[in-house]
Amino acid sequence: MKASLAWTEIVALIIILKVCFNASHQLTGLQVCSLCAGLVRNNSEVDRFCSSSAGRIDRRCCLSNDNSSDPERIIGLDLSNCSLTTVEDLSGASEVLMVDLSLNPIVNISEKVFLGFLDLNYVFLPEDIGCPGGNVSWQQVTVEKGRRFCKGQTNMCNQTRQMSMSCPENSLCCPDGPGFFQCKCSESYHGYKCLRQGDFPPLKVFGPLAGSTVLISFLLWVTQRRKAKSL
Ligand SMILES: *[C@@H]1O[C@H](CO)[C@@H](O)[C@H](O)[C@H]1NC(C)=O
Ligand SMILES: *[C@@H]1O[C@H](CO)[C@@H](O)[C@H](O)[C@H]1NC(C)=O
Ligand SMILES: *[C@@H]1O[C@H](CO)[C@@H](O)[C@H](O)[C@H]1NC(C)=O
Ligand SMILES: *[C@@H]1O[C@H](CO)[C@@H](O)[C@H](O)[C@H]1NC(C)=O
Ligand SMILES: *[C@@H]1O[C@H](CO)[C@@H](O)[C@H](O)[C@H]1NC(C)=O
Ligand SMILES: *[C@@H]1O[C@H](CO)[C@@H](O)[C@H](O)[C@H]1NC(C)=O
Repeated sequence: MKASLAWTEIVALIIILKVCFNASHQLTGLQVCSLCAGLVRNNSEVDRFCSSSAGRIDRRCCLSNDNSSDPERIIGLDLSNCSLTTVEDLSGASEVLMVDLSLNPIVNISEKVFLGFLDLNYVFLPEDIGCPGGNVSWQQVTVEKGRRFCKGQTNMCNQTRQMSMSCPENSLCCPDGPGFFQCKCSESYHGYKCLRQGDFPPLKVFGPLAGSTVLISFLLWVTQRRKAKSL
């Protein structure tokens, strides 16, 4: 009886740990809106952008009023004048269009902070911080009034930039945020450098997962049955 309880507890604990681990290593959802105190600054770029796109201000974020998406989409993020020295994780705002990080004593922005930010088209930074992905990642870069403005994300896979040439055969270049691209295997190719052709082998990938699920189910069944018997 005691042993069977321990088993179910262990299984539950593992599941809980997994959930917590997945949840804790990234800032999720609207947490980025609380990275600094207060609201979107009155009359700032994000404030004006929000009004013009009929958005809704929530703390330091402008949320799209299209409430069909869940969680609500962050379209503007104003973290200006926040005493930020580093910027490491904005993953909850990966669909954002405008980010303002100006008026901060930033010394370091993590290289991958904007990885996957496909819609990002307006970035304001302190003057001495370069645009994410470098000047080539933007259509227009201007410096004025102590801040740098990066406008219009360029497509890294544009033929004229030759990035598509660095993708292996049988794969397709896809943009993946300012300065980033990824190579996706074309249909029916898979594996390292997309060298293998044929159907995606579901058994190999889902095999171990299915195996562990069966094992857990079996353990639960055994322990529950024992419990039922002993009652
Ligand atoms: C924001 O600024 C406008 C004028 O630019 C002013 O009318 C309004 O009261 C201000 N709102 C806040 C909350 O400070
Ligand atoms: C979306 O917002 C509109 C108006 O703001 C409201 O009438 C509607 O019920 C909302 N829909 C959902 C699914 O929350
Ligand atoms: C920045 O914030 C401080 C207080 O937190 C305020 O006194 C100052 O006016 C702000 N600067 C700008 C340019 O808004
Ligand atoms: C900036 O961050 C990167 C990695 O996040 C680190 O390698 C680098 O040393 C940092 N630079 C400074 C000046 O802190
Ligand atoms: C990027 O563009 C800005 C503004 O045009 C310019 O001042 C800066 O030197 C450029 N940086 C590089 C590395 O070319
Ligand atoms: C590709 O780059 C060229 C030159 O930089 C530009 O004129 C063109 O609009 C770009 N095309 C796309 C699809 O981004």
